[in-house]
Amino acid sequence: MLQKFDSRNKDLKVWVADGLYSREDAKVSVFDSVVQGGDAIWEGLRVYPEGIFLLDRHLNRLYESAKALAFVDIPSVEEIKHSIGETLRANNMTRDTHIRLTLTRGTKITSGMDPRLNQSGSCLIILAEWKPPVYDNNNGIKVITSTIRRNNPSFLDSKIHHNNLLNNIQAKIQANVAGVDAALMLDYSGFAAELNGTNIFMVKDGMVHTPTAEACLHGITRGMIIQICQEESIGIKERNISLTELYNADQVFCSGTMGELTPITHIDGRRIENRSDTELLATLIKHFGERIPKYCIEV
Ligand SMILES: Cc1ncc(COP(=O)(O)O)c(C=O)c1O
Repeated sequence: MLQKFDSRNKDLKVWVADGLYSREDAKVSVFDSVVQGGDAIWEGLRVYPEGIFLLDRHLNRLYESAKALAFVDIPSVEEIKHSIGETLRANNMTRDTHIRLTLTRGTKITSGMDPRLNQSGSCLIILAEWKPPVYDNNNGIKVITSTIRRNNPSFLDSKIHHNNLLNNIQAKIQANVAGVDAALMLDYSGFAAELNGTNIFMVKDGMVHTPTAEACLHGITRGMIIQICQEESIGIKERNISLTELYNADQVFCSGTMGELTPITHIDGRRIENRSDTELLATLIKHFGERIPKYCIEV
């Protein structure tokens, strides 16, 4: 499913470094690290009428990514929250909004890889767009398995939420060529890791299963689903999951800030059959919805 241009986003105000700019004028330098080496980190945030869902957990992950990559001169939590608030107010956004928050290592004095060439601090970008959940959460999505493996800590730790997304983009191209919505990426050993932009779960025999977070992003939505299972006494296991297990699950779904919880109806042409008539996914979606207002933070 290809997202369409939403005309409400024609006249956006975007935060870049020190203030708000119109959509046309919101730019970074050709010397910025994100241009030079994809040297940036990011978070996707969703805005609900009650505030931003799990904002503190997202900012915590941002700071952990920044520390892993040894970024310096990072804006404080208060500064980031203030800038998000200014951006949302400038665009009159209080709902149905997705924020792409990017922190680059900043501008370099000359092109090159060395972070010592960055001498003017990091650069914060806050792109808020009108964007309701992007997938068809009623009818679900189809996926194929990609030949591109998801990084594990031997190469590039998936616990860093970085802008080097070419692995995931190559996987998404394979999904596009196959005419499906997303690509399932395996880990180095051949177990399921996650989809190219979301985490994956399956339901079997009344239990929820999800891959361990070794080769997938430790998604904030994923974490909330695990928390719901623990709080509601629903069995949940983080473990290695093979493709055969996914093909034969009662329900399979993916999770992420962009699309919330989305059923997966087909994997590699195999239809996911709910042989035990479980309603666990519907139960999780209900509990997730109930927690949204409770976990929103105003800025
Ligand atoms: C590769 C990947 N997996 C999973 C997710 C979902 O993470 P979250 O629930 O934090 O939005 C994302 C979102 O950015 C992602 O890029």
